[in-house]
Amino acid sequence: MFVSTDSDPQGNRRDFLYVATAATGAVTAGAAVWPLINQMNPSADVQALSSIEVDISGVELGTQLTVKYLGKPVFIRRRTEDEIKAARDVKLSDLHDGDSRNANLPGDAIDANRAMDEAGEWLVMIGVCTHLGCVPLGEAGDFDGWFCPCHGSHYDTSGRIRKGPAPENLPIPLTSFIDDTTIKLG
Ligand code: FES
Repeated sequence: MFVSTDSDPQGNRRDFLYVATAATGAVTAGAAVWPLINQMNPSADVQALSSIEVDISGVELGTQLTVKYLGKPVFIRRRTEDEIKAARDVKLSDLHDGDSRNANLPGDAIDANRAMDEAGEWLVMIGVCTHLGCVPLGEAGDFDGWFCPCHGSHYDTSGRIRKGPAPENLPIPLTSFIDDTTIKLG
C-alpha cells in the first residue's frame, strides 16, 4: 500500500502542539501525546501495517517530514551540507552513546553509520526521546539538531544524544529506498 504524505513543513506546528501538551505536565510517554497529534497523521489502518512507503519527493533541503509508523513519529530529514558537516566533524569520543542505534547498520555512531545514503542527505529516525519518551523538537537545542524540552536532552544533527539525561541516540528503524522519491519503513 502506498502512503502519500505531503511534504510537511508543518513540523513546527506539531512541535508547537507538543510543547503545548508538555506544558500541561503530561510528561509521560509519547503515547500520551499522540492522541493530540494523531488527527494529522495517516489513518488507523496505516498504523497497523508493519511497513509503509513514504513519498519524499516534496521534502526540501533543510526540512523534515514527520510520519507515523507503528504508532510512533518518524522524522525524515533532508539535511543541508552544513548539517551533514556538523554531524561528520564530531569525534566519537565526544559522544555519550557510541552505538549507531541503526537497525540497518549496526556499528559505532559515526554519522556515516546513521545517514541513509552515502552523501548523508537523508536521516530517518524514530522521533521519541530515549529518556522518557517525549517527542523532540527539530532544529533546536545546543547542537542545532533536536531538543527534548521535557528534561532538556540535546541531540545533534545526526540525532545523537550530546547533552542531557537521554541515554541513547535516537533510534533508526529499518529503512530502504524504493526509488529516488520513495522510502520504505519496515
Ligand atoms: S523525555 Fe526526558 S529529556 Fe526527553
